[in-house]
Amino acid sequence: MKTALFALALFVHVLAQAQGADIFKGADLALGARLIADNKCAQCHASKVGGDGNTIYRPQGRINTAALLRGMVENCSTQLNLQLFPEEVTAIAAVLNRDHYKFK
Ligand code: HEC
Repeated sequence: MKTALFALALFVHVLAQAQGADIFKGADLALGARLIADNKCAQCHASKVGGDGNTIYRPQGRINTAALLRGMVENCSTQLNLQLFPEEVTAIAAVLNRDHYKFK
């Protein structure tokens, strides 16, 4: 019984962590950076907000968790028909998190 409770506690803990930036652990940052460059993310964003396009990333805005950030990258890439693999979406989101959002 004690063991079951411990296992449950551990499971809940892992779940809670999965909500945070832990989803980016082990992400291939070099791959993410390359995909961002290859898919002209910044060019299009710059045409909307000016400058280098980076002000489109608003950590204080509606994207306020790591999971939402990843979800947004997924939406954007689906709309753009990029057909990325899940690891590629994670890699892109991890780079954006490192450079802009900084979710823990
Ligand atoms: C064809 C234009 C276009 C391209 C290409 C594009 N985006 Fe976007 N993206 C937008 C626009 C417009 C918004 C703002 C949407 C809004 O605020 O309602 C946006 C918003 C975002 C946001 C949310 C910013 C925030 O904090 O609210 C993320 C993240 C994002 N884009 C990621 C990407 C990534 C990664 C790529 C490349 C794989 C990409 N986008 C390519 C047009 C584009």
